[in-house]
Amino acid sequence: MKRAVSFVQKSSEWVRKPKHIDANLKDYFKTYKTFRWKSVEKEFDWSRTKKVNIVHEMIDRHAASTRKNKVALFYWDPSPSAGYPQGRDEKYTFLDLKNESSRFGNVLKKMGVRKGDRVAVFLPRTPELYISILGIHRVGAIPVPLFEAFMETAIEDRLSNSEAKAIITASQLLERIPFSKLPCLKEVCLVGGDGEVMPSLPTSVRLISYTEEMQKASRELEPVWLNLNDGLVIHYTSGSTGRSKGVLHRQYAMLGHYQTAKWALDLRDDDVYWCTADPGWVTGTSYGIYGPWTLGISSVVLGGRFSAQQWYQTIEKYRVTVWYSAPTAFRMLMSKGEALPKSCDLKSLRHICSVGEPLNPEALRWVWKVTGIPPHETWWMTETGMQIVCNYRSLDFKVGATGRPFPGTYATVVNDKGEEVPPNTLGNLVVKAGWPSMMKEIWGNKGKYNEYFRLKGWYLSGDTCYKDKEGFIWFAGRADDVIKTAGERVGPFEVESALVQHPAVAEAGVIGKPDELRGQLIKAFISLRSGFSPSEDLKKEIAEFVKKNMAAHAAPREIEFCERVPKTRSGKIMRRVLRAWDQGLPVGDISTMEE
Ligand code: WT7
Repeated sequence: MKRAVSFVQKSSEWVRKPKHIDANLKDYFKTYKTFRWKSVEKEFDWSRTKKVNIVHEMIDRHAASTRKNKVALFYWDPSPSAGYPQGRDEKYTFLDLKNESSRFGNVLKKMGVRKGDRVAVFLPRTPELYISILGIHRVGAIPVPLFEAFMETAIEDRLSNSEAKAIITASQLLERIPFSKLPCLKEVCLVGGDGEVMPSLPTSVRLISYTEEMQKASRELEPVWLNLNDGLVIHYTSGSTGRSKGVLHRQYAMLGHYQTAKWALDLRDDDVYWCTADPGWVTGTSYGIYGPWTLGISSVVLGGRFSAQQWYQTIEKYRVTVWYSAPTAFRMLMSKGEALPKSCDLKSLRHICSVGEPLNPEALRWVWKVTGIPPHETWWMTETGMQIVCNYRSLDFKVGATGRPFPGTYATVVNDKGEEVPPNTLGNLVVKAGWPSMMKEIWGNKGKYNEYFRLKGWYLSGDTCYKDKEGFIWFAGRADDVIKTAGERVGPFEVESALVQHPAVAEAGVIGKPDELRGQLIKAFISLRSGFSPSEDLKKEIAEFVKKNMAAHAAPREIEFCERVPKTRSGKIMRRVLRAWDQGLPVGDISTMEE
């Protein structure tokens, strides 16, 4: 454990719950003692039929039940987009999604997609994004969702690592895909584009139109039946070293999605649930797709960019009952003031959860004040696949505490030898290995996978925390250099690699700097090549360069020029020194620093 930055203020303020609250998880402590995952298996058809495919459990079985005409997806994007001058306002029932995803499965079959193939989905948050993912599941292939804001280098990394053979995308995103560097990528399905006017793709790449093919395709297609250990989805995420890692989950993970959506999100059949995350990130699949739909819940998706007003209007328009979002989003809403939430009817809300970064007490209290509901923390990671440490609707909790381990999991605090430490002692947040949604592999990188399990029997999260005497876990910070900015995980190495490609940059070192709105912001220390001199314009140009190459959220918001970037004799960037420079603190022991 190298480092612990304290993000949370210890507080003794409690959120008290009424005695007989009507929650799915009624008695946490009793359930924690007795719960077995095995008991959840019977909730799935595969426990009887032995035929496994998550699309059956999410869609087809509801389409064959009384939920057939229940709305599965409410989609709203009030802003005009290509082909939709009035914006979009649509509904899809479970039966609609069965038909559409079967059509799309047939399109994929025509594209030559088979069981186990990786298929990238690079689309804005639209119904087609959801239908694509469902269709990919139907043919037994593995979706690789790519966040819409990714630029060329980020796309290249993820597509070459996953060896995706097909991609579903939109014409405005097409130019960011470097086909010539991606020999495996042979098939493109273009949503909303006109097949005739396509730019010059290599002749080895076949391009088809989503709209045209969907019209021709049959809406009958049985899922390809899989094993519980077969691949479900790959999400790329960042570590403190190296390029992004492909976290592969397996079909069995659905057990975890289902049960946590039931007990932590507290979803019930009559809920209208809104998860604000994009499926480019794991929250947007585990809890934007798999959890709610395996439970047969109606889900809301808001397209387009963030707008505080539209967010409140969404709650009012659909009478959203359960809302899952992130601290940065809450803080952004908070920064727009109280008049907006007061002008909308938010009384439909009955439960709110938060994920991605620590929820600071001010943001918690503010959401509580304007909605009447205190947001409940959920801690988890791309690698854990499901929520692990949570506050629960039926359970009192302390403001600022991250929560208690989900039934059927054991999360605790250990020292660097893997031994549990006494209460109130800072240590590594670990989870006992073997819960249903634990990642199956880091795609093509056994070594990286093993690093997570180097303390025998534990999954090592990379977070530091402590447990108080009452058993609440309190998140403290990252033990490594991973940056969390606006809830998104960014690896400093990736940003540094992008920076040094700029002709003016000799060396770059990147850190996360504490920030009120974003939790952390990306700060780069840069030494310039000879012939270049520091200026504000150059800073802007360099930041813009990273934006164009990787993604806007990965671009440094702050740049500081320095003579040299501090490195160890073996050439590792000393981010500890950069953090001290940034805060104006003493740099400590620099005996390993190069001359
Ligand atoms: C990292 C994982 C999986 C959900 C989205 C994030 C931080 C996540 C919390 C929380 C404090 C949190 C941790 C973790 N984190 N939830 N409730 N309180 N920190 O997934 O991008 O894989 O990031 O997010 O540092 O390690 P991710």
